[in-house]
Amino acid sequence: MVKFHWLFLIVFLPYHGKAAKISPAKSRLSLQWKTFDCASNPLHVSRHKCIILDNDKSLITVEVDYLQAITQLNATFKLFLPRPPFKEFHKIIDLNVDVCQFSKGLYGHKFIGVIVKSLGKKASSQLKCPRPKGLYSYPNISIADNLPGFLPTTDFKVEISFLSPDCMLNTSLSGMLYDPAKTRGK
Ligand SMILES: *[C@@H]1O[C@H](CO)[C@@H](O)[C@H](O)[C@H]1NC(C)=O
Ligand SMILES: *[C@@H]1O[C@H](CO)[C@@H](O)[C@H](O)[C@H]1NC(C)=O
Ligand SMILES: *[C@@H]1O[C@H](CO)[C@@H](O)[C@H](O)[C@H]1NC(C)=O
Repeated sequence: MVKFHWLFLIVFLPYHGKAAKISPAKSRLSLQWKTFDCASNPLHVSRHKCIILDNDKSLITVEVDYLQAITQLNATFKLFLPRPPFKEFHKIIDLNVDVCQFSKGLYGHKFIGVIVKSLGKKASSQLKCPRPKGLYSYPNISIADNLPGFLPTTDFKVEISFLSPDCMLNTSLSGMLYDPAKTRGK
């Protein structure tokens, strides 16, 4: 089932028509974030920061100050892609994963593996459970560096909700994958 999801993504992406031209294998796509919004539950999180870096829009930084220790943490990941002709966003991936398993290398899905790798070593080590309350910071997360090469250029949206077990933090991101060789700089 897990493999099927990924296969589905590989198979499905090339059929997005004009919005999804496959770029030559060698040119790595760049990622640019457009929006990043978070909403936290005041019972679990005293403050949070969700920002796209001003001087490099491929990077995001997340900071969360937990009011309670985390013993259990699940996340739901949803990926949306535009579908022609009207380019309205359709949900392509919808996953529920156990974040506490990440530190053991159990991601449950390749898509999640990409995201966890992007956090970097130090941040990944902060995903262990149980973990004490306090401020956790995940600076300069670079998803683009870890994306597989076959992806098409496209706009996309991601929604991630963290549950422990009730809702702690909702995040919603939008961005685009583009071919830097075909754009005139930033
Ligand atoms: C997060 O999203 C869920 C589902 O949309 C909603 O029920 C919940 O209230 C949201 N939580 C916060 C903290 O915004
Ligand atoms: C957390 O996610 C795992 C893996 O999908 C699932 O087996 C488990 O039931 C989930 N736990 C909760 C409380 O939702
Ligand atoms: C994050 O990236 C910015 C800009 O590239 C850099 O100035 C900053 O030092 C980096 N922060 C960390 C913690 O790596």
